[in-house]
Amino acid sequence: MYLTPEEEKIFDGEYGEAKKIAIRLLYSLGELGGANGLIPIKSAHVSGVSYKNIGEGGLKFLRKISDRVSVPTSINPLGFDLTEDGPVEIDDNFRKKQLEVVKIYQDMGIMNSYTCTPYYFYNEPEFGDHLAWAESSAITYANSILGARTNRESGPSALSAAIIGKTPDHGMHRIENRYAEIIIKPHKLLDYSEMAALGLYTGYNGRGKIPLIIGQNRLKSFEIKAFAAAFGAASSVPMFHVDGVTPESNLVREKAETIEVENSDIENIMDKFSGEEPPELIAIGCPHLSVEELNYIAGLVRGKKKTGPDFFLFTNRRVKEEARDAVREIEDFGGKVFVDTCMVVSPLSNKYRKTATNSGKASFYLPLKEYGNQEVTFKSIMQLIKWVIA
Ligand code: F3S
Repeated sequence: MYLTPEEEKIFDGEYGEAKKIAIRLLYSLGELGGANGLIPIKSAHVSGVSYKNIGEGGLKFLRKISDRVSVPTSINPLGFDLTEDGPVEIDDNFRKKQLEVVKIYQDMGIMNSYTCTPYYFYNEPEFGDHLAWAESSAITYANSILGARTNRESGPSALSAAIIGKTPDHGMHRIENRYAEIIIKPHKLLDYSEMAALGLYTGYNGRGKIPLIIGQNRLKSFEIKAFAAAFGAASSVPMFHVDGVTPESNLVREKAETIEVENSDIENIMDKFSGEEPPELIAIGCPHLSVEELNYIAGLVRGKKKTGPDFFLFTNRRVKEEARDAVREIEDFGGKVFVDTCMVVSPLSNKYRKTATNSGKASFYLPLKEYGNQEVTFKSIMQLIKWVIA
C-alpha cells in the first residue's frame, strides 16, 4: 500500500509513538484489504468504551495510543449513566476504571456523546462521506440509510483512523463493493420488532452477502434502525438496502438469489426468546432511542401509573434534552430514561436476571454470559407496555 512522504514520517515514528501505532495498524488493515492508499475521512465513531467490555487490556491499549484526534469523533455508550448513575449499582473499582477510560477519551478531544446513535445530533454524515466508524448498528445505519461509506471498524481501528484522519481505501469505500447480492422477500409488511426479528433472520441466513429487502417501502427510519442493529449483531455484513427506501437500493447484482421469508420464520425468531414469566425489567432503547420514539412511548403511557417490572429506556443526552416533555411524562408514569449507557454494556446482571425487550440486537446479546446473562423475552412494544400498565 502506498504511503505519502508525510505518512511515511508518521510510520517511522517522527510524530510520536501513538501516531506510529495508529498508522501501522491502518497500514496492516489496508494491506489485508487490498487498499492502494489512505483516504481522508469526515468523521470517526469509536466503540470499546464500557469498562465491562474492554477490561484491563483495553484500558492499557488506550493509555498507549492516547493522542489528539484530527477529525470529529463520537463515542459509544459506557458502563453507567454519568449524569445520574444507574441503571444498576456498580462497585468502586468499576467506577474508577470507567472514569479513567472517559478521561482518556476526553483528553483526546473526543465528544462526550456516549451513544450508538451518534447520527442523532452529534455526528451526522452526509451521502458519500467517507467515515471510519465502529459499532455495528451505527455502521450499518451510516452505510445503508445515510449512504455514507465506512468499513466495519473495530474500536482500535476507528480510534487509529480518528488520530490520523484517514482510513484505508477498500471495502465499503468503493462503490463496486456496495451491491446487493441476495434478495430478502418477507410475505407481509413488518412492524418495528418484526423488522428487528428479520434483521436476525437475515444475519443468520443471508450467506454473508449484502441483502436487498423488498416489499417494505413504508418503513420509517427507526424501524430500519431496528433491522440494522439486529442484522449487524447476527452477521458481519456492514450494509443492506431496502427497495424504494434506502438511497442506494438500485445497486443490485443481476443474478441475486431470492430468499422467501415466511411469516412463521419471523415468529420462530421471536419465539426463540420468549420467556413467558413476567420479567424483572423491561428495557427499551437498543439502539438508543430517537426523539420520535420517545414521543411515541410517552403517548402510550400518558396519564397512567406503572405497575410490575422496572421500565427503563436508553437514549443519548441530546435526544433526552430535545424530548424533555416526553421524558417527563415517562418518568411521571414511573419509568426511567437513562443516557450514556445501555442495557447491554452496563453490568445489568448486578441486579436483574430476566429482561424483556423489543430489540433484536439486545435479544441476541443479553443471554450471553459476558454481556448480561439474562433470560430474555423479545416482544413488540405494545406487548411490553401491557406488562407495566394495570
Ligand atoms: Fe447501542 Fe447498546 Fe444496543 S450500544 S445498539 S444500545 S447494545
